Amino acid sequence: MTGLDVERIRAHFDFPRTGRVVTNNAASTQPPRELVELYRELIPWYENVHRGQSTASRRTTDLFEDAYDTIARWINAPSRRCLVLGRNTTEAHNAVMYSLLTEFRHGDNVVTTMLEHNSNFVPWYALTHEILPRLGKTVECRPARLDADGNVDLEHLASLVDRHTKLICCTGASNFTGSRPDLAILRRIADASGYLQPTGERRSRLLIDGAQLVPGRAVDVQREDVDYLSFSFHKMLAPFGVGVLYAKEHLLRHGRPFLYGGDMIAEGRVFPDHVDYNDLPWKYSAGTPNILGVIVSAQALRLLADLTASSERPLFGGTGSFPYAVTQRTMDRLARHTAQLTGRAHRALAAIDGLTIYGPRERAPLIAFNRTGTDPFTLAKALDQRGVEARAGCHCATLAHHALRLDPPASCRLSFAVYNNEEDVDRAVEAVAAG
Ligand code: ALA
Repeated sequence: MTGLDVERIRAHFDFPRTGRVVTNNAASTQPPRELVELYRELIPWYENVHRGQSTASRRTTDLFEDAYDTIARWINAPSRRCLVLGRNTTEAHNAVMYSLLTEFRHGDNVVTTMLEHNSNFVPWYALTHEILPRLGKTVECRPARLDADGNVDLEHLASLVDRHTKLICCTGASNFTGSRPDLAILRRIADASGYLQPTGERRSRLLIDGAQLVPGRAVDVQREDVDYLSFSFHKMLAPFGVGVLYAKEHLLRHGRPFLYGGDMIAEGRVFPDHVDYNDLPWKYSAGTPNILGVIVSAQALRLLADLTASSERPLFGGTGSFPYAVTQRTMDRLARHTAQLTGRAHRALAAIDGLTIYGPRERAPLIAFNRTGTDPFTLAKALDQRGVEARAGCHCATLAHHALRLDPPASCRLSFAVYNNEEDVDRAVEAVAAG
């Protein structure tokens, strides 16, 4: 027993009526009905934010700004000033890259890993192989290798870090092997580098790709002491086009904006030869943002707390603060539930002849595998014939598929969310066994 009333939770979603076995949640999760209805309810009073004096504009602005507070609260960020909201995790990583672009010094390096999603490798590849060389700077990109279980080899990673390592970029949970590198060890490695940052700090910055981590467990950015954390709401019940970059406030104050334009400038402070930027977080919010997407996405967090009954009072539809303990209780309950499903799937899949499962036993709620003699795309199609949704491919974890010598670089993956039940797992496993 995990304490979650999954059937009650499923009643909030439309997909169960279709009979789909939704087990491609690492790619994207389903929206509860309340969020879609909320989007519609906001329409009669929709207006732009920070760009109008009407009641509608002020109302929408208040809801939009409160959404920043809710998101900050969820990850225990000190304030909304630590948030950059964009489209997705990929944009968050690019925001860090462009924000730091002018800070890199000739001879610096970026340490990343072979486990990264392409969104947390390709920007660093492009920076070090394409952008900085054109600016006359040589900066190395150093990927840490994997161990035999598909974990980042943290000893190897530590050996790559030196006093020229400006940044360590690492996944918090792999979308392929499910491995979750120890954030405390990564922080210690980053702290020990001695790199002199322009802010005077002597340590490497730490960027954690939280795309698969934040939907799966509570992440307290202050306790973990990460410099940057990214995640996307489309993997957290809210496919409305919003991604999050958390960054320490002093880094955002010091850093260059990623996008330049309207609203990110101080009111009236644009001259032909001088521009002043807006206060945080709006310095990083150029152009009209995804207003309704942001409001509804933040409400998804409140709804998730209500669905798991983690708060003493309902949070959905409301505004204002709540204790961080709500996030912890919500995510602890969710994590216990998905761990139980993942364990059940792992045990059953491991018993199927010719099936190779990638990754360690302790894992994020996903399982990628291959079956001898069947290519993963054919297997995923066979699963689909039985109503079971899997994903075949490299899942954008291309380096890791190469590192594990998979040819073609592909695997078939099942992944679980708060609304999955044991029947979903059993149907998925039966489909794999038959496929
Ligand atoms: N990165 C997402 C996945 O793992 C889309 O499928």
